[in-house]
Amino acid sequence: MSDLIMGIETSCDETAAAIVEDGKKIISNVVASQISIHQKYGGVVPEIASRKHMEYIIPVIDRALDESEKKLSDLSAIAVTYGPGLIGSLLVGLSVAKAMAYAQNIPLIGINHLEAHIYANLLEHNEIKPPFVCLVVSGGHTSLVYIRHFGEYKLLGQTKDDAAGEVFDKIAKVLDLGYPGGPITEKLANEGDPYSIKFPRPILNDKSYDFSFSGLKTSVIYHIKELKKENKNVPVRDILASFQQAVIDVLAGKTIEAALKFKTKQIILAGGVAANSALRSELKKKANLLGIKVFYPSTFLCTDNAAMVASVGYYKLKENIKSSFSLDAVSRLPLARKN
Ligand code: KG4
Ligand code: ZN
Repeated sequence: MSDLIMGIETSCDETAAAIVEDGKKIISNVVASQISIHQKYGGVVPEIASRKHMEYIIPVIDRALDESEKKLSDLSAIAVTYGPGLIGSLLVGLSVAKAMAYAQNIPLIGINHLEAHIYANLLEHNEIKPPFVCLVVSGGHTSLVYIRHFGEYKLLGQTKDDAAGEVFDKIAKVLDLGYPGGPITEKLANEGDPYSIKFPRPILNDKSYDFSFSGLKTSVIYHIKELKKENKNVPVRDILASFQQAVIDVLAGKTIEAALKFKTKQIILAGGVAANSALRSELKKKANLLGIKVFYPSTFLCTDNAAMVASVGYYKLKENIKSSFSLDAVSRLPLARKN
């Protein structure tokens, strides 16, 4: 018999519910984005986000059920993101998930949002087999992880300051390009020269797998301010292309180094920034030369969604990993600790 898992995701500014069969087949996948609401503030306002989740969550779940043509009683379990994320937002999804699991008398499975981003890849790629190296790059996280077996994560390095997506968002904000900054930066960068301005490649050459993007961010912002101060033209496309190239050089360089060190033949990209086509193609080009395959999810599965949450839920259920109803939301939940 197949297992239908409902996934629920409310960790940031997307209210999402999905139904996935046997960890692989997406039956329905509904995402209500709050982007247009937060846009005027230039970023996510946590208090507004949690209120909007309260408003959206039940209609989103209803729609996920309607589109699936399944009933609540068909579900085998409810998987829900319990961290990391905005605490008030997480609590909305978690509370509804608990109520549903309790009422249906089915397991509740708490999911780490970062693990869900990694599993987004499994919804589409059957060939992925550990061991592999995974680069998780989102609005809140930049982590390089070695995965020997599914569920066993060795954190190789992470950002010491800003996350990769966060820097895209902050630079777009300085240039008045709106929120989120990633997609618009990618679009404009495509029309610019990535080697026209030499921005720093932070800690690319040190031996660690850690990242640091705040120096790059400051350098780009300073460059823009200087041009404005001198009343010079601001070549937005060239600036964005050069900035994006600097980020990609660091992300791709360290990821390839890790794959070589751990002798893996597969690299997995995950998280919102994995939607960036320049990052995808550069990493693929470099890795393929070394006989390493690169996988990433379709764009709609890179950014926050609940299908990826349901997918992890299925594999946890198979291992009989369930959560108690006292499960709490955890704002800073690591995927793995350095060891
Ligand atoms: O995974 P996600 O939806 O949310 C978090 O878990 O943080 O990632 C959102 C982040 C934002 O910072 C957004 O600017 C970035 O992903 N992003 C991109 C692209 N699409 C989204 N960054 C670069 N290029 C893109 N095409
Ligand atoms: Zn995310």
